[in-house]
Amino acid sequence: EAASKGGFEHFMMKEIYDQPQAIRDTLLRRLDNNRMIHLDDIKLTKEDLEAITKMYVVACGTASHAGLVGKYAIEKLAKIPVEVDIASEFRYSDPFIDEHTLLIVVSQSGETADTLAAMKLAKSKGARVLAITNVVGSSVAREAHDVFYTWAGPEIAVASTKAYTAQMIAFYMIALDFAYKKGTVTLERYHELIDRIEALAPLVEKILENKEAIKTIAEDIKDTSSAFYLGRGIDYTTAREAALKLKEISYLYTEAFAAGELKHGPIALIDQGTPVLCVVTQKALEEKMISNIKEVKARGAFVIAVTKEGHSEVGKVADDIIYIPETEDLLMPVLSVIPTQLIAYYVSIARGNDVDKPRNLAKSVTVE
Ligand code: G6P
Repeated sequence: EAASKGGFEHFMMKEIYDQPQAIRDTLLRRLDNNRMIHLDDIKLTKEDLEAITKMYVVACGTASHAGLVGKYAIEKLAKIPVEVDIASEFRYSDPFIDEHTLLIVVSQSGETADTLAAMKLAKSKGARVLAITNVVGSSVAREAHDVFYTWAGPEIAVASTKAYTAQMIAFYMIALDFAYKKGTVTLERYHELIDRIEALAPLVEKILENKEAIKTIAEDIKDTSSAFYLGRGIDYTTAREAALKLKEISYLYTEAFAAGELKHGPIALIDQGTPVLCVVTQKALEEKMISNIKEVKARGAFVIAVTKEGHSEVGKVADDIIYIPETEDLLMPVLSVIPTQLIAYYVSIARGNDVDKPRNLAKSVTVE
């Protein structure tokens, strides 16, 4: 077992460190000599895509958060409306599905019972089903019409890290491929985005070099009983994934809020010293986030902000700051999630928990 942890103390840390490779493998294995994407197991043609009027992304847990990032990517690049739902809700919601619907299911294991049931339901109503999964030949892969394999390698820790990163890369690539086929991006923009996606791997490595500083921040919050996450737009997705990660392995009560909703309830939870982790990476929303940070600070919150290098305005208002490298706003979730994974890991260790096998949780939920 020690050997399979690659010299790390826990699988989770090994898998956090596997992420640059997971990004490279997921992307580069599908690029030809002209750096065009080839999705061999996805047979959707330009005509098929033009006939699709609606898309759903359905998944559970962390995979559903990748779906939220996917929604942004597909809507922005391929201009197709996307709804994201969790599988256990979707399957009982009598969803509006016809032969013009594409359902994308996301599942690391490919064996999650609700996700499988949701895709079977959609198929029976005439939808085309595309699966994003990490396990070759899994039930989800076998049941789908089209498959995208994330090449993240086996994920052992219950809390998902590298599978999530690879799922986001999968969505960027699918969105780009669909967009190019539909003619909603130029070839120049297509190549620019491929270059930027490839460049994410060394940027993740750079964030990991900063892990000792992040460990110190985790120690500041280890004795709290609850912690909240705030974000807007695509940063709210990172906030949700970050809150889930911390909850899963630290057993703290955590929750993510869309920062604009603060005044509608959540701000009542803020007390002296309440940790509030803010994700601030989106240009158009930075000013609004800074005022949200001021609002929670005024009620006593201890604010930790994750923001882009050089964004000193955020640094001025937060108590602790984690600077991450800059890329396009759309790709920032791949970078902003990394420090939040490390925070969850270090808080869990500091609390003496079993990081890789947290209580009450299973790696794959195969019962309903
Ligand atoms: C469990 C795991 C999570 C995972 C979720 C969905 O809850 O603990 O880490 O995100 O299942 O699993 P899947 O294999 O379908 O991605």
